[in-house]
Amino acid sequence: MHDWKSLLVKPEFPRSNHYDPNWVVENQMGPNVLWLVEWLSERLALQPDMRVLDLGCGRAMSSIFLAREFGVRVWAADLWIGPDQNWRRVMEAGVSSRVFPMRLEAHAIPFPHDFFDAVVSLDAYTYFGTDDLYLGYLSGFVRPAGLLGIVVPGLLRDFESGIPSHLAEPQSNGKPFWEEECRCFHTPDWWRAHWSHSSRIADLHVEALKDGWRHWRDFEKAVELSGKGIFPSCAEALERDAGLYIGFVGMTAVRSETSGDDLYDPALGLRVGVDR
Ligand SMILES: C[S@@+](CC[C@H](N)C(=O)[O-])C[C@H]1O[C@@H](n2cnc3c(N)ncnc32)[C@H](O)[C@@H]1O
Repeated sequence: MHDWKSLLVKPEFPRSNHYDPNWVVENQMGPNVLWLVEWLSERLALQPDMRVLDLGCGRAMSSIFLAREFGVRVWAADLWIGPDQNWRRVMEAGVSSRVFPMRLEAHAIPFPHDFFDAVVSLDAYTYFGTDDLYLGYLSGFVRPAGLLGIVVPGLLRDFESGIPSHLAEPQSNGKPFWEEECRCFHTPDWWRAHWSHSSRIADLHVEALKDGWRHWRDFEKAVELSGKGIFPSCAEALERDAGLYIGFVGMTAVRSETSGDDLYDPALGLRVGVDR
């Protein structure tokens, strides 16, 4: 059998290379979140003890990584994966004094405004963050001059005329890459425009991850060869695409001094007199 573990060793991700490959594939929920968070962490000035929200953390691998590598305190927040499961993983990883799992719906963040020094979100922001109002809401939970960092699967360029056949047609395992939900994939230009309208952030940087498709393909292959995959592999479609359209988009920004209304706060109804 091919040594799938060697596919997970990459010079670009020296910190991730130290994590147990079995742990990484057993807890994966998509592309390798350790690579995504390592890429992001090189662009965020994380300091020990900072309060970090890991929004849509899944099985909390990125939260554990951030706590271990940078000594930050992480609220590992997710909708689908319950806190009991993540707490077990956190205890096993030896970071129970720094990682705090919780169930959270991204539109009902139960923290004071300005609470976090940083918010990160890896392969999750597309599920809620394409809403025009969402960045304004989320940034309210980050203190002024605090950090925001997002990595999502995305497009490297727009389709010229419809979904390309190599993405729409089934792979040899029967699964097409492109499903209806992929319409939340957007280009770096789209994300830049989406975020730059907001006065609540500054110092915005948006870029495609270098060799993102290669890393994604290698991870898909590793998971498939390990026999521990949950979903059919999309390595074949990524190989065919070869970075023409599909990759990852990373964004970082700093919270500005500007604040505004919390539009998802149920109490807003009282302020505008709905219940009177
Ligand atoms: C593809 S998984 C990625 C999980 C993890 N970040 C990773 O990369 O392994 C997307 C995650 O987004 C979370 N998510 C989706 N919608 C959400 C919402 N409205 N509020 C909070 N989390 C959400 C899901 O619970 C899921 O764990």
